[in-house]
Amino acid sequence: MDYRGKVVVITGASSGIGRDAAVAFAKRGAIVVGVARRESLLQELAGECRRHAPDASYLAGDLGERGFAERVVHETVARHGRLDVLINNAGLPMHKQIYDVTPEDMDLQMRVNFMACVWTTLAAIPYMLRQGEGYVINVSSMAAKVAPPRETPYTAAKAAMDGFTAGLWSDLAGSNIHVSLVVPGPIDTEIWGKDDSPSAYSGPKYPPKIVTDALFEVIEKKVHERVVPRFSAQLVSAHLLRFFAPSVLLRGMAWMEPVAPDVVAKARARAAASTGRGGGGAAGGSASGGTGGGAG
Ligand SMILES: NC(=O)c1ccc[n+]([C@@H]2O[C@H](COP(=O)([O-])OP(=O)(O)OC[C@H]3O[C@@H](n4cnc5c(N)ncnc54)[C@H](OP(=O)(O)O)[C@@H]3O)[C@@H](O)[C@H]2O)c1
Repeated sequence: MDYRGKVVVITGASSGIGRDAAVAFAKRGAIVVGVARRESLLQELAGECRRHAPDASYLAGDLGERGFAERVVHETVARHGRLDVLINNAGLPMHKQIYDVTPEDMDLQMRVNFMACVWTTLAAIPYMLRQGEGYVINVSSMAAKVAPPRETPYTAAKAAMDGFTAGLWSDLAGSNIHVSLVVPGPIDTEIWGKDDSPSAYSGPKYPPKIVTDALFEVIEKKVHERVVPRFSAQLVSAHLLRFFAPSVLLRGMAWMEPVAPDVVAKARARAAASTGRGGGGAAGGSASGGTGGGAG
């Protein structure tokens, strides 16, 4: 595919997978619009992209806000006249035992890791229809399929993204708007160090480039879903178990980090105390020590 002059929006472009992909698209001549919150990193990225494609730019803001997410699309079309490829890649981790998860945590995860891709996609579809072509690629996670311990909000948000993408695939049939889901396993980026609670995952992590390569592959071959790395024994067996022995997979994930008895005891005590005060809501303090973690 000839990417020269194609307008590509990449969210979460200030670091990790998004940054790697932004530079790779620019090197192929695409006009990249990088999106994230950290403006200085976006400025630096735009400078690097401009060495290959002079019109590269960026938009800094919080994709958890619907107004900004929609503005990303409208502003891109205002600047460049079109939007060819929308890559919804921004995301943030959360490693929290469910006893400690608040409705606000869940809301944040859903807004950034799911609703942002809904807002940008709904805003992009009319432009892509008018152009007669477009690509929407959502970057999910293996966590959506295997539910690692202490990642329930992240898993739920990414699983919602998976369902949204599958629905788009059906509904956009005949429109010439192609929709793909890229599902990374553990990738070596700063996401692993971003949550207060450390991850216990100690297996191999793969370079962001393999995800970038998958982004090009799903566009060029019009693939609906691509897990990366494609031939990891860990991910392939997780996939097989999910379909043929889901309860074994669930038990395996629980075995990865068993819930310590004192975590349940503390949560119970906290629940009793809050009930005693006449409320069912969460009281202050943490119920879990949180010793481990799961996939990013
Ligand atoms: N690394 C992995 O092992 C792995 C595995 C599976 C899936 N993924 C997914 O891959 C995607 C990229 O992650 P990564 O590994 O490259 O991690 P990363 O380096 O931490 O990148 C995350 C990006 O999302 C942006 N972002 C976060 N919250 C945002 C917000 N509210 N508004 C706008 N931008 C926001 C961050 O930029 P700012 O902080 O500047 O806003 C950053 O550019 C994520 O969706 C992640 O869930 C990663």
